[in-house]
Amino acid sequence: MSKESSSIRVLFVCLGNICRSPLADGVFDSIVHEHGQSEKIFVDSAGTSGWHVGDPPDKRMRQAAAQHGVSIGHLEGRQFVKADLETFDYIFAMDKSNLDDILALDATGTLGHKVRLFREFDPEPGDYQVPDPYYGGPEGFEEVFQMVERTARMLFHRIAEEHQLSVKY
Ligand code: 4NP
Repeated sequence: MSKESSSIRVLFVCLGNICRSPLADGVFDSIVHEHGQSEKIFVDSAGTSGWHVGDPPDKRMRQAAAQHGVSIGHLEGRQFVKADLETFDYIFAMDKSNLDDILALDATGTLGHKVRLFREFDPEPGDYQVPDPYYGGPEGFEEVFQMVERTARMLFHRIAEEHQLSVKY
């Protein structure tokens, strides 16, 4: 099945689309693959800014992901566009300012129900936001990996349940 005809479309959004959301994209996609659902679930990511359009994920994020066996080097930054609100079924914002920036593009006020904070699904949600590791040290990237990994697993199971997918274990 082509990407376009995948029935469930999931988008992760941060500010730059080079740290948090490409990681969530790669981790979630690997979980989807692990459970044999790649034909059913299409995964993508975007940034609310256009600062890193066309760029690969930040090297430090790529390294932290690779240490856990997840490859995100093939991903390329793109900016979130209004049409994403129509195209995607689920849009997960990494922090509250991403959430506000996405909702500001919902001109009709009818699509906001698709947009949630990603860490609403974290079993240890803290302040419900994924901290931006960009200006910090390497430990920040590992911390973000742990957060994203456990949240992505919970999220996958919630979506699989909602759509009654016959998930392979
Ligand atoms: P991200 O991190 O939103 O997780 O991709 C950032 C990446 C780049 C910048 C800010 C945040 N920046 O200022 O260029």
